[in-house]
Amino acid sequence: MIGSARPRARVIAIDGPAASGKGTLAARIADHLGFAHLDTGSLYRAVGLIVLRNGDSATDRPAAITAARSLCPERAPAVLRDSEIRSDRVGQAASTVAAIPEVRAALLGFQREFAADPPGAAAGAVLDGRDVGTVICPDADAKLFVTASVEVRAQRRLKELQARGVNAIDSHVLADMKDRDRRDSERATAPLVKAADAFVLDTSDMTADQAFEAALGFIRSRIGPDAA
Ligand code: CDP
Repeated sequence: MIGSARPRARVIAIDGPAASGKGTLAARIADHLGFAHLDTGSLYRAVGLIVLRNGDSATDRPAAITAARSLCPERAPAVLRDSEIRSDRVGQAASTVAAIPEVRAALLGFQREFAADPPGAAAGAVLDGRDVGTVICPDADAKLFVTASVEVRAQRRLKELQARGVNAIDSHVLADMKDRDRRDSERATAPLVKAADAFVLDTSDMTADQAFEAALGFIRSRIGPDAA
């Protein structure tokens, strides 16, 4: 029917390194605004988990590409809800498969579609990841780059692991974090970089509430106080 088209969905892009707090922030902002939320990292984690479960290595390119093409996230497969995708083993596999251009290409359409037409007829979408503001949604209404020092992020990850009952060693978590930072920043395709027009939120010395207020203030300045 003419004139009944939905207004263009608002898009909030939140990127940043591992354990920067971007996931928690994105979920809270989406909840506050009534927008849909997509944790894009879960897609790469799902690909990593499929590869490992098939007994393949994350460095096996054909296996990773086949897994990414088989994922079909729109059908919300069980693997996306599997708690094992949160493990560090799967996180490492995710960052390895994420460096493969064909894996990224296989997941691109779903992410763009989610942003353009958010599920549940939501008025907007919040996507968090590594390349949302630079590659997936370069025209996003508001872009945030959430970061924190590598030591603070390693401490946060350690607490998270301990809370899950995982017996993690301080120095190993820090080394893994540095390893993943390097892989995510140095890869040729869609590396982790701040979009030129992103608002930088360094959460090293912030509580989750302070980060939320600062992020919301910026988003309001971009999409208007009525929408936020
Ligand atoms: O939760 P955490 O920040 O540790 O990781 P994640 O967001 O779940 O992402 C897991 C891995 O997927 C990252 O190390 C990245 O290599 C990759 N990833 C990506 O390449 N692009 C995205 N948009 C999201 C995640």
